Amino acid sequence: MATGSIVITNIGQLVTNDPERDGLLGVIEDAAVVVGDGFVTWVGPKQDLPALDADLPELDCRGAAVVPGFVDCHTHLVYAGDRADEFGRRLRGESYEEIMAAGGGIQSTVTATRRASLPDLVAAGMLRVERMLRAGTTTVEIKSGYGLDVENERRLLDVVSSVGKAMAIDAIPTFLGAHTVPTEFAGDPNAYIDHVVNEMLPVCAPVAEFCDVFCDEGVFTVDQARTVLEAGRRHGLNLRLHANQLARSGGALLAAELGAMSADHLDHLNDEDIEALGEAGTVAVLLPGVSFSLQLPQARGRALWDSGVTVALATDCNPGTSSIETMPFVVALACLEMGLSPEEAVWSTTRGGALALGLEDRGRIVTGAIGDLVVLAHQSYVHLAYRPDARPVRSVVKRGVQVVS
Ligand code: NIG
Ligand code: FE
Repeated sequence: MATGSIVITNIGQLVTNDPERDGLLGVIEDAAVVVGDGFVTWVGPKQDLPALDADLPELDCRGAAVVPGFVDCHTHLVYAGDRADEFGRRLRGESYEEIMAAGGGIQSTVTATRRASLPDLVAAGMLRVERMLRAGTTTVEIKSGYGLDVENERRLLDVVSSVGKAMAIDAIPTFLGAHTVPTEFAGDPNAYIDHVVNEMLPVCAPVAEFCDVFCDEGVFTVDQARTVLEAGRRHGLNLRLHANQLARSGGALLAAELGAMSADHLDHLNDEDIEALGEAGTVAVLLPGVSFSLQLPQARGRALWDSGVTVALATDCNPGTSSIETMPFVVALACLEMGLSPEEAVWSTTRGGALALGLEDRGRIVTGAIGDLVVLAHQSYVHLAYRPDARPVRSVVKRGVQVVS
């Protein structure tokens, strides 16, 4: 990916997320930032800006707020087809689980995705990523999980790599072969788990960074998830887990036990789960767009924050439970529906997302960090939540290159 150098001036309000500065967000008023060869080289009040090379491109923010590039740490954005028909059925009263049990849900996207050509999957992925980038996402995690056989799971991870190479975004690949039991293995989930461990992982692990499992009631058990995650770890992958989305199914405790980097969804969580996540240092990835789209109660974001667990927020962009693509909308949902403050929501979509992916080098605007920044169309980050239907992003800088203007 291209890297560049740029000076960003006349920032009315700069969110640094620098713990050395005041408040959760380490805000500097009337600020400037310098990025050199893709990395932040200077941050501070604009009157302290040092003399710079006259050729350095300048981005004048005209008093707007700037936040770190959003890190969307949980998506399933590579797929074919859509499930608008199921959305209609849900609005008429059927539940996500009922539709899944009747052969719809993930399985219907698997069928459409297997049929799609490689160029079509890359094009569909690029289109979604383009919209994300325009809304300020500069790093995105993307899971497989709609292939569910060796060839198709590998193909999806290759699509993730192609999308990342073609676009001004860092795409982080996660292997989610254990997303559901495909029809070929219907009625024999343990045989499928063996297949995931013995056949898929050796082919997919070399092109993935994380291993994930959908551990939940009616999907994979804690023991099955443990088998896959331990095998993933033997292949050098870091761990994350779809946990406690549909029921209090033991996934959160498993994530903590294995020291997974994140436990995601967490809609059914009691105090014991929260304590275990905190002790393990596992990041809680919350997905308010899912509860919003399924019209279910939101996860206990407030309790997680108050107990000191590291919280990240993501879109979970997928055709079934959340077709949401933009992080500003996630900020709004986290404030309006989950009870987080704008400060907590902004931190969780930037630094929290970076920590959920183990990426120390981003999610904050400090010297040495990757030069990923978002210029908002507003004077304050609060407007991300305050005006959820406004177009909130004016410009995006990725590794020092202005990629959206
Ligand atoms: O994160 N929970 C499992 N996976 C997705 C849904 C996938 C789908 O319905 O296609 C999720 O909600
Ligand atoms: Fe998900």
